[in-house]
Amino acid sequence: MLNRLNHVAIAVPDLAAAVASYRDTLGAHVSAPQTLPGHGVTVVFVDVGNTMIELLEPLGEDSPIAAFLERNPGGGMHHLCYEVEDILRARDHLKQAGARVIGDGTPKTGAHGKPVLFLHPKDFHGTLIELEQA
Ligand code: CO
Repeated sequence: MLNRLNHVAIAVPDLAAAVASYRDTLGAHVSAPQTLPGHGVTVVFVDVGNTMIELLEPLGEDSPIAAFLERNPGGGMHHLCYEVEDILRARDHLKQAGARVIGDGTPKTGAHGKPVLFLHPKDFHGTLIELEQA
C-alpha cells in the first residue's frame, strides 16, 4: 500500500531561520513559503533529491503544531509522509485494521494540491504519519 517517502516534516518556531540554515548553511534548494490556512501552517519544501524536507511553522491561533512546539520549543521531527495510490482505499484498509485516522476521515488538500490524511502516532510507534495520494 505504501509507496515512496514523499517528505519528512520538521516543525520549527522560526521559519525564516530554518530556511536560512537549510539554504545558506546546508546549501539546499528551498521553495518559496506557502501559507496553508486550512492546515494552520506555513510551509517550505527543501529538495534533497530522493525526497523532500517540509519545514512547518505555526499559522494562526489554533495551529495543530502549536502544542508540538510547546513540547519541543527548538523544533523537531513532526511527521513522515508516504505516498499511496488510492487514499480512500488506504483509509478504509487502515480503519479496518484498527488504525486511527485523525479527524473525520475525509481527506484534506495538502501542500501539493493532493488529498492527504493523518494517522495517529500512537498506532505507529510514536510517529505521526501523513498519507498523500500521488
Ligand atoms: Co507533510
